[in-house]
Amino acid sequence: MTRNWIARSAATTLLALIANGAWAADGAAIPERVEALLRQMTLAEKVGQLNQLSDKQFITGPESELRRNLESDIRAGKVGSMLNVKGAADTRAVQAIAMQSRLKIPLLFGLDVIHGYDTIFPVPLGEAASWDLEAIEQSARIAAREASAAGIHWTFAPMVDIARDPRWGRVMEGAGEDAYLGSRIAAARVRGFQGVKLGGTGSVMATAKHFAAYGAAIAGRDYNAVDMSEQLLYETYLPPFKAAVDAGAATFMNSFNTLNGVPATGSALLQRDILKGAWGFKGFVVSDWNSIGEMVPHGYASDLSDAAAKAIIAGSDMDMESNAYAGSLAQLVGAGKVDVKLVDDAVRRVLTKKFELGLFDDPYRFSDPKREKEAVSDPAHRAAARATAAKSMVLLKNDGGALPIKRGVKSIAVIGPLADARRDLEGGWIVKSNAARVVNLVDAIRAQAGAGTRVSFAAGCDVACASDSGFAAALAAAREADVVVLAVGESWEMSGEAKSRADIGLPGRQEQLFAALKAAGKTPVVVVLAGRPLIFENVARDAKAILYAWLPGSEGGNAIADVLFGAVNPSARLPMTFPRHQGQIPISYQQYSTGRPVTDERDIQYKSAYIDMSNSPRYAFGHGLSYTTFAYRDLKLSRNAMKADGKITLSFTLANTGPVAGAEVAQLYLRDPVASSVRPLKELKGFQKIALAPGQQQQVSFTIDRDSLAFFNRKLQWVAEPGQFELMVGAASDDIRLRANIELTE
Ligand code: NOJ
Repeated sequence: MTRNWIARSAATTLLALIANGAWAADGAAIPERVEALLRQMTLAEKVGQLNQLSDKQFITGPESELRRNLESDIRAGKVGSMLNVKGAADTRAVQAIAMQSRLKIPLLFGLDVIHGYDTIFPVPLGEAASWDLEAIEQSARIAAREASAAGIHWTFAPMVDIARDPRWGRVMEGAGEDAYLGSRIAAARVRGFQGVKLGGTGSVMATAKHFAAYGAAIAGRDYNAVDMSEQLLYETYLPPFKAAVDAGAATFMNSFNTLNGVPATGSALLQRDILKGAWGFKGFVVSDWNSIGEMVPHGYASDLSDAAAKAIIAGSDMDMESNAYAGSLAQLVGAGKVDVKLVDDAVRRVLTKKFELGLFDDPYRFSDPKREKEAVSDPAHRAAARATAAKSMVLLKNDGGALPIKRGVKSIAVIGPLADARRDLEGGWIVKSNAARVVNLVDAIRAQAGAGTRVSFAAGCDVACASDSGFAAALAAAREADVVVLAVGESWEMSGEAKSRADIGLPGRQEQLFAALKAAGKTPVVVVLAGRPLIFENVARDAKAILYAWLPGSEGGNAIADVLFGAVNPSARLPMTFPRHQGQIPISYQQYSTGRPVTDERDIQYKSAYIDMSNSPRYAFGHGLSYTTFAYRDLKLSRNAMKADGKITLSFTLANTGPVAGAEVAQLYLRDPVASSVRPLKELKGFQKIALAPGQQQQVSFTIDRDSLAFFNRKLQWVAEPGQFELMVGAASDDIRLRANIELTE
């Protein structure tokens, strides 16, 4: 790769190797080393540490003019961190420039390593559907291993925003709608990225983002305002962030949105009171891309300097791409508008992480071409990506056992705009595409079907599917085949940042393609590829089998074929509710009752209902089928009542009652039927993914303690109120198999 702007840096690499300040080698504890360094820094150098700029060649936000003097700014100590520089060679070269600055403070290299670096795993929402915390942690671990060898110190992940509006394109990056599931996954991802302790060369710093409530953008339109009650914020949107802090997340990123009238980037409530205050977060907060500058168009700051003051006072430590701190912070301190202590605190937080990463001992320790090569070509990574992808695919429907496809069928027609897709399987938010290495679905089916099966392919249309001119060829191929597989959905560019859709149906005429196949008597097995829940009512009604494969990554084609042929029994469950219609959005299983609930869908007069549609979703949170069946029986409680410091164990027997091995996700829900604040009809409080051989059964137990029963009351106190609680155990939020009541006594 050519890097014009650092043409001279090769010659200076040697110089960089002698990067040792007085502060670097004394073996003292990190806080002392930080203080010693801070004492040597000018105000301008301090401000430099809080300035983060993007590389010129890979830009992940609106372009600005800021990078004009990148090299000289780095050399002058005016840049503390770069984003979007990647690869061992490039990160080395850029670090070498920082090593020419007066204090030789190493740069931090940050990058959006969202679902893999070189080996691409399913998009995070897909991974979340696995409900498999080990697999999710391992995916982050592998991404960290690859990225860190390429010189990356810091990933801007995990995104832990709760999202209940599938129009929002960024649902693809998160873990779905639920605070409990989202918190468990947030912690797993942080552990995966960071390893046991920061500083290992196979680890990167994690970023919990976007703090906070970004996922609740009004009408699902990206960057839009957010307005929500504090109770909802505390109970649903903040817990995954708290879980990330508890798991040791090194950094946080704030968010673009306003929250109840205040831009998150300027919110002292979020950053100082909650994050650094109540939660005791010791890491640093980076702004989102130009989110400090965007406080001006928000109408919250009069100009960039005002925005800088508001952001640092509110607790935003590092400025990504606004040039607000670099341009104004020193003057603001000089004019007495910003206390230098706030700057010192932010710099201290940033330097601490640089020390913890070991960068002062060796600024190049992560950028290792040999390790990079080994990591990205490790076959174990591809194998893990394939296994995780297969675990993430949700079998939404399977009437009459249409799946798995019987081996030895004479012919299979693979139809649809995504049947031969490679790049789309990788999904959005990757830093480099290796589409040529991806096995598409047609080839994967060909490879697994065996020599005796003829496999044909006809796209029918492209993803936009504006015309039906290719339908005839698709129908012809289908007519010749015993089994028809139809791959429909979104392209990789249709979900992610700035990819909100007002219409989340299958694009263009894709549903008509399905209908044409059905009308020809060739009802297909449908594979849907997408970064969000889509609406496809005709397919949902008429298809015999639907496999929701998300955007499954480098090994996605093989993994889909693994599931279609039954080499892998699907075990994923929806982490987000699938609506029947856009009019139901926002939607979540966490409904509240009303004073006029619908108890019988035939009687909706004066009830909280739609006159033209059921309230129920198409597919509920937690839903997902298997090629086997599971029975839940013999619920037992260790006791019926507990005090606030007590515990109750709920146990039951889970049995695989079907013909093949499989894994079930047993889910525990709770309702507090009468409380000082109205509680949801159901809240997830636990889950376990359990693999069972055919005929095998196992005792499963959940522990209920005060935390399971507690909620934030109107004074935002975390309370568990004495009284009755309903416990529900099931296979999905709408498939409750066992129930019990317990009491919390005074
Ligand atoms: C903006 C996105 O909101 C954020 O998630 C990302 O990390 C930054 N750009 C940097 O690319």
